[in-house]
Formats: sequence, structure tokens, C-alpha cells
Amino acid sequence: MAVQINPSILSADFARLADEARAVDGADWLHVDVMDNHFVPNLTLGVPIVESLARATDIPLDCHLMIEQPDRWAPQYVEAGAGSVTFHAEAAAAPVRLAREIRAKGARASMALKPATPIEPYEDLLPELDMLLIMTVEPGFGGQSFLDIMLPKIRRTRELIAKHGLELWLQIDGGVSATTIERCAEAGADVFVAGSAVYGADDPADAVRGLRTLAES
Ligand code: DX5
Ligand code: ZN
Repeated sequence: MAVQINPSILSADFARLADEARAVDGADWLHVDVMDNHFVPNLTLGVPIVESLARATDIPLDCHLMIEQPDRWAPQYVEAGAGSVTFHAEAAAAPVRLAREIRAKGARASMALKPATPIEPYEDLLPELDMLLIMTVEPGFGGQSFLDIMLPKIRRTRELIAKHGLELWLQIDGGVSATTIERCAEAGADVFVAGSAVYGADDPADAVRGLRTLAES
């Protein structure tokens, strides 16, 4: 289970996105939070910026769609150059069909669960996914405190992945920092999104290295 660290550009300077991508050299993926002011009470960016960013960096893009109607919009993010596209279970009308479409277009398909959404109803759907994202804060904003009550859900999800013998990556997003990442790794997460803990640091690339060392320990 290789550890991956995905800095979230939500905490970066949006006027300097190409430079901010270069500042996290060594990161596995760049996490791009797409928000539509409807699924979450915040608005960030869409397809044109993802297209430009994909051209501006060699780091693959991990697009986290916090939007309504992902069935309609998610395929466009694959075409824009995202290597992984995450839609929310709470918003998708036909998650199996959508995951298959994302994969067929050539990206990794991923599904996210808000903190109050249980994993159990989605057990049979796991083979359709390349990654499952467990939110460890309410989606919408960076810089929130990690929800410790999500640790049992991470643990149960890791058990389900093992039970089905899947190669699924288990991502967590929200409040990941040097003080919380070890518990998450211990619970079974292997892909860590970090916004403020990376871009709030004096040296973002060094913060990525530090988080990786803690998660691997
Ligand atoms: C929150 C976003 C996160 C956010 C995490 O809704 O999905 O990706 O950037 O920020 P931190 O790491 O600061 O909690
Ligand atoms: Zn995110």
C-alpha cells in the first residue's frame, strides 16, 4: 500500500496556479477542488482552468467534483486532462454508469462520501471504482479541523476493500496535517489530500516530504 500525498490547490494562490504546482515538486497528484455553489456553499473553478493547469504541470490532476449533476459534467473533466475524477455519491444519479464512463474515457474513477454518508450501501459498487474518498471534514472549505469520528469509517472501508480483494485506493480529504496523518494511515488510508498543511507551510515541497514520512512510519 504505497502512500500518496496530494496537495490541494484550494489553499494555493489561484492567481499563480502554475507556480504553485511547481512548488510541490515530488507530490503524487495535484488535488483540484471543483465547487459549484450548490452542492457546497463555495465556488472555485471549472473546466477551462483544469485544461490550463493540465498543460502547465507534469503532476497528474486529481479532480474532486463537489458539484450537482456530476453525471452530466464529470466526463468533461476527463477530456480537460484530469487523470482521476471524483464525484460525490450524494450527487450522482447513476454512480455505476458514471464510473464506467470516466474509466472508458481514460481516467481513474473515484467516488466521495460526505462525513454523514455511510460506506455500507456502496459495498457492491466498490469494484467499479479506482479510488474511494472519505471526507474527513464537511466539504466546501479548506482549513477545517479533522473529524476524528471518521476513523472507524476509514477502518471499515479498508476492511471491505480487503474482503473483496480490490486494488482500490482509499483517499481522505480534510484536516490532514502532521498531527492527524498518522492516525489516518494506521486506520487504512493510503492517499492523503492536504491543503493548508502544504500551502500554509513556508516550504510546501518540504511539507509534502514530511507528511509522506509520517504516513509511511
Ligand atoms: C474541502 C476540500 C479539500 C480542502 C482540504 O472541501 O475538498 O480538498 O482543500 O483543505 P485542508 O487540507 O486545509 O483541510
Ligand atoms: Zn477536496
